Amino acid sequence: MSKGHTLAALVVAVPLLTPQPALAQASPDPAGAITFSKDVAPILQRSCQVCHRKGAIAPMSLVTYEETRPWARAIRQKVADRTMPPWTIDRNVGIQQFKGDRSLKDDEVDTIVRWVDAGAPMGNPADMPPPVEFPDQSKFGLISLLGEPDLVVPIPEPFVVEANAPNMWIDLYADHEMPEDRWVRAFETKPSAEGFPVVHHGSTWRVTDDEENGSQFSEYALGKTGDVFPEGSAMLLRKGTRFRFNMHYAPNGTTTTDRTSIAIWFYPKGYEPARRQMRAGVGGVSDLDLPPGESDIRHDGYRLLTENIRLTAFQPHLHSRGKRQCLEAIYADGRVQSLSCVNWDFGWHITYNYAEEVQPLLPKGTMLHVITWHDNSKLNKWNPDPQNWAGYGQRTSDDMAFAWLLWYTLSDDEFNQAVQERVLATRKGPGHVVP
Ligand code: HEC
Repeated sequence: MSKGHTLAALVVAVPLLTPQPALAQASPDPAGAITFSKDVAPILQRSCQVCHRKGAIAPMSLVTYEETRPWARAIRQKVADRTMPPWTIDRNVGIQQFKGDRSLKDDEVDTIVRWVDAGAPMGNPADMPPPVEFPDQSKFGLISLLGEPDLVVPIPEPFVVEANAPNMWIDLYADHEMPEDRWVRAFETKPSAEGFPVVHHGSTWRVTDDEENGSQFSEYALGKTGDVFPEGSAMLLRKGTRFRFNMHYAPNGTTTTDRTSIAIWFYPKGYEPARRQMRAGVGGVSDLDLPPGESDIRHDGYRLLTENIRLTAFQPHLHSRGKRQCLEAIYADGRVQSLSCVNWDFGWHITYNYAEEVQPLLPKGTMLHVITWHDNSKLNKWNPDPQNWAGYGQRTSDDMAFAWLLWYTLSDDEFNQAVQERVLATRKGPGHVVP
C-alpha cells in the first residue's frame, strides 16, 4: 500500500469516528435526521390533512412536500402554541383519552419543531407513506357499514355562501316532518360535495310543537363521519318532529352553494331498545351577567342525576364571549372530581367523545357542576362589542353557558357491573394479577 493510500484511508476514517450529529448536518439525508418523508408526513396525514387538502376548509393543502415547505415557519408556530390542530381540551385537567383525538403528542410537536429548525428537509421520497384516501364527499360514509339510509333530510333549499361574506351562524328549518315515532340507531350529517369547504359545523335539532327550540339531535364538524349507537341503544324521533339545522358557514373567497343533509338509519318498526341514548344541555345559566370590559366572569350551573349514567361525550356551548368551561362531578359522599375543561375558541365547536375505558360512571345522587368563564373585554378577538353589557340570548351576539352532554342510563345492576369491570381493567396494569 503506498503512502498516498494510507493517508486517504485516514482522512476517510476520521469523520466516521466523529459523533452522529456532525454527520447529520453535513449530509442531505443521513440516517437519523428528521425528514418530511419519513417523520413529518405521517403526522400531517393523521392530524392535519382532513382539513388541509384540496377542497377542504383550511386555506392551504399540507399533502405534498412542495405544498408544505412554504408553510414550515407558520406550521412550527401553530403546532408549538397548540392552536393547530384545533383541540381545545385543557391537557392538564381531567380525562385525556378521547375517540378521534387528532391532537399532537408532545414528541410529535417536538419532531415538527426540530424538522423546521433543521431547514425543513424533504429526505428520501421513497420514505413517504402512501397517501391517505379521504372519503368521497358525494356519499354518506356510513353506507359502507349500514347500507342505504332509511331517511335523508336536506336543508330546505340550496344555500349560497357569497365569496367574501362574513362568517355566518344561521338556523334553517327542513321541510320533512316525522310521520310516526321511530328509534334511531345511526345518523350522519354531510355537507354537499361543493359546500364541504365552507361548512365549519352543522348541528340538527328536533323541533316539535311543544318545544320550539327543540333538543339537539346530531352534530357535524369537519372530519366527523357519523354516529352509530351501541346495539340496543337508541334515540327517539317522535311523530311530528321536524329538523332545525344550525349551520356555521365560513366563506373562503369562492362563491359556493351548499346543501347539507342528514341521513338516518332506524331500528325496525316496533323495536324496543334496551337503552335510551340521551343528549341534553346541562348546567345552563339563563341569567348571564357579562359586564363590559371584564375578562374573567364566572357562572355556575348544576344538574342532579336522578339515575345512574355512563357519560360518553362533553361539548361546551358558549358564544363569542366564551372563554373556558369545566365539568366536574360532586358525589353524594362529598368527593369532587374534575372531568374535563375546555379553553373555548368560538371558531371550533368540537364534541369530545370519551374513550370507552374512561367514560365516567356516575351514580344517581351525583351533582354535575358546569363552571363557565366569559371574556367580555377587547382581549377576546371574537368579542363583537366589548363596550357593552351582554346577557343570555339566542342570537349569536348574545351569549350562553351550558354543556352538551351525551349519556345513557344504567340500572343499579348494570351500573355495579360496569364499575366492577372498570376496577378490574384498571388493576390489570403491568405486573398486576387480577384475582
Ligand atoms: C379541523 C380542521 C383543521 C385541522 C385538523 C388542522 N387545521 Fe390548520 N387550519 C384550519 C383552518 C380552517 C385554518 C384557517 C383559519 C384559522 O387559522 O383558524 C387553519 C390554519 C392553519 C395555519 C395558518 C395558516 C395561515 O394562513 O397562516 C397553519 C400553519 C395550520 N393551520 C397548520 C396546521 C397543522 C400543521 C395541522 C396538523 C398538525 C393543522 N393545521 C390541522 C383547519 C385545520
